[in-house]
Amino acid sequence: MHIVVNGANRGIGLEFCRQARQRGHRVTALCRNSSEELETLQVDVVEGVEVTSPPPLEQVREIDWLILNAGIWADESLENFNFETLKEQFEVNSLGPMRMFFALCHGLHRGSKIGIISSLMGSVAENSSGGRYGYRASKAALNCMGVSLAHDLKSEGIPVALFHPGYVATDMTSFKGTISPKESVEGLFSLMEKLELESSGTFWNYRGEVVPW
Ligand SMILES: NC(=O)c1ccc[n+]([C@@H]2O[C@H](COP(=O)([O-])OP(=O)(O)OC[C@H]3O[C@@H](n4cnc5c(N)ncnc54)[C@H](OP(=O)(O)O)[C@@H]3O)[C@@H](O)[C@H]2O)c1
Repeated sequence: MHIVVNGANRGIGLEFCRQARQRGHRVTALCRNSSEELETLQVDVVEGVEVTSPPPLEQVREIDWLILNAGIWADESLENFNFETLKEQFEVNSLGPMRMFFALCHGLHRGSKIGIISSLMGSVAENSSGGRYGYRASKAALNCMGVSLAHDLKSEGIPVALFHPGYVATDMTSFKGTISPKESVEGLFSLMEKLELESSGTFWNYRGEVVPW
């Protein structure tokens, strides 16, 4: 299989590339700047892929899995509200995956699969603590677009899944997450394997439990 991952230089994206290679798949790793860890994996690295303005990616073809992973986090509270960080998170977390989809859709075919890395924080039903305005709203908007994409791509034979990767020890969580990228990606990988048109548009956590909207 040919697996294409963005935000591939570190964190969950990097681990996705690593596990894809361990399973013998061909990997195209999209990132803004590569990393030493990424360079040790035998993958095709494409740098300069800023999700707010992706470059032409015509060379990336025959995509079996597209993993839309890049994201950012800011921690606004009501006392410390910031419209700028809100907008940035919408640009990267909500619009970024759609921009990447349009930049790469020429490479998708019947039977390709799309995995979108969302977050439990994008679940309105699971919001029991407030705050985090931009992150929550940007991931909720991403979920809405992911479900529309799932409907719109059904006739093309392309299923789409939305994932909560767990609370993962990466830069984003200052490595305070309770699970490793390895554990998270093992779960996500098997969910991608099981994803089919009948289950397209579902929001799962890395353990395969359905997350309420
Ligand atoms: N870690 C968690 O507990 C957790 C929980 C729920 C959901 N998630 C989601 O999982 C995904 C991966 O997170 P992570 O934990 O691996 O975070 P991370 O270690 O901070 O990695 C984020 C990745 O996104 C890339 N990125 C950020 N802004 C970008 C932009 N404008 N254009 C292109 N690439 C950009 C980063 O590239 P640079 O190095 O160039 O900045 C990096 O590769 C995100 O969507 C995040 O929201 C994570």
